[in-house]
Amino acid sequence: MSKVLYVSSEAFPLIKTGGLADVAGSLPTALKGLEEDVRILLPAYPEVMQQVKKARPLASGTYYNLDVTLLEAQMPGSEVTTWLVQCPAAFDRPGGPYMDSNGQPWHDNALRFAIFCKVAVDIALNRLNLDWQPDIMHGNDWQSGLVPALLHSHKQRPATVFTVHNLAYQGLFDYQTFLDLELPAGLWQLDGLEFHGQMSFIKGGLVFADRINTVSPTYAQEILQAEYGYGLDGLLQHRQERLTGILNGIDDTIWNPATDPHLKARYDQDHLDSKLLNKAALQKQLDLPVDATPPLIGMISRMVEQKGLDIILQAMPRILALPVQLVILGTGEIRYEMKLAEWARRHPERLKVIIGYNEPLSHQIEAGSDLFLMPSAFEPCGLNQLYSLRYGTLPIVRNVGGLADTVVDANKKNINKALANGFVVAKQSPASLLATLKRAVKLYAQNDSWRQLQLTAMNGDFSWQASAGHYIDLYQQALADRDKAMV
Ligand code: ADP
Ligand code: GLC
Repeated sequence: MSKVLYVSSEAFPLIKTGGLADVAGSLPTALKGLEEDVRILLPAYPEVMQQVKKARPLASGTYYNLDVTLLEAQMPGSEVTTWLVQCPAAFDRPGGPYMDSNGQPWHDNALRFAIFCKVAVDIALNRLNLDWQPDIMHGNDWQSGLVPALLHSHKQRPATVFTVHNLAYQGLFDYQTFLDLELPAGLWQLDGLEFHGQMSFIKGGLVFADRINTVSPTYAQEILQAEYGYGLDGLLQHRQERLTGILNGIDDTIWNPATDPHLKARYDQDHLDSKLLNKAALQKQLDLPVDATPPLIGMISRMVEQKGLDIILQAMPRILALPVQLVILGTGEIRYEMKLAEWARRHPERLKVIIGYNEPLSHQIEAGSDLFLMPSAFEPCGLNQLYSLRYGTLPIVRNVGGLADTVVDANKKNINKALANGFVVAKQSPASLLATLKRAVKLYAQNDSWRQLQLTAMNGDFSWQASAGHYIDLYQQALADRDKAMV
């Protein structure tokens, strides 16, 4: 058994902008089930404080002249102890965890997450006298990138593991910010935080962590190439023997059509007909013609380039000419929101676009749709295609990252072997997307084949069981690497 501090900038249900929250809300529980002594460290945003019960102070201190209190709290529905970094000047403000309500990054993000990392480091080195010192510091994405960098030179330190959920977000700031944060001067070098004249938070994790992993085996390979590496591919190649890919799991207590409280009708493999009731309910709720015949295609997504919105928009006139209905829920870049909303205004009988973040509706779309659209240009893991598989809603994906590791195309060969569970778009182009959609529409009309695809999808095992075990192995490797480095 190891003591693990899981450091994350979001965790469901307390605060969520994307899949990292789902992972941080479920992996620690799975690890606890395997006897690891895990605690989560999270910033005390207002949404978090509103939901936690019985927050009690454990320690306090001053970071960059700002008052900080470490709180212990209970996450609703979780038995994992949650520690919160309460720093009103940094985290107690309306808006998102990373951006203000206008979609602009907070001007003081470097300071906010430097505070977060420094508290993590003080816990790691037992400077807060907590009577609990982790063996493993497990950081996630750039917001915790400084932790391995700041721990690296300490003799008595925990082993560090750094998970890359998305290499596209790197936490880049100018040199003056590096100086303002009073970080050790030695970190300003190529083998440190410097990245083309800027300070890179994510490099702190990539350069200094004892072990690095990403959230799917294929993405772990892709980021070694220039196309997906964002200029960090050389560094990652250099550390290749420390880099692995572990596929994310899903939380079966939250994403399970047999128990999901948000659904009109619950269903499983043996009661698939009830799925249709969810389709009708969704059509009714969204004011679409209530009709079982056209396949209903759902999409739930951050509206950013990564998610393939450009090819969807380019293909839109031709998609809307197919006998389908399309429902898109999401929020993100205004240019995508506006173009999609405009298409929806012009085609109210075929397309609904809901701009915003809506957890219950996301479950209803997963259950009520026949197909799920996710033609991402890159996808480190992707959770929505996993939820879709679980809900018998066949995903339409690109052959990248975690999508490639989880979706098997419904071509003849795969159908005959009963392996097919979705549709793979051959190229990142509107024509290729359209060809795949046509293929899916055709198969949808063949009830028996469709049912077989749904059953294969639903019978896939994407629980945390296996993946959590891989994390435990990774922790052991990190401990061994740390011990070697200390000799
Ligand atoms: P990413 O983390 O890149 O956004 P994932 O597929 O890993 O992609 O995870 C996205 C998560 O965020 C899923 O749980 C999805 O349901 C949720 N999500 C995204 N946008 C919305 C939205 N507008 N409303 C509700 N849930 C959303
Ligand atoms: C990131 C990735 C997504 C992944 C999620 C959780 O947001 O974009 O592919 O599923 O992190 O690991």
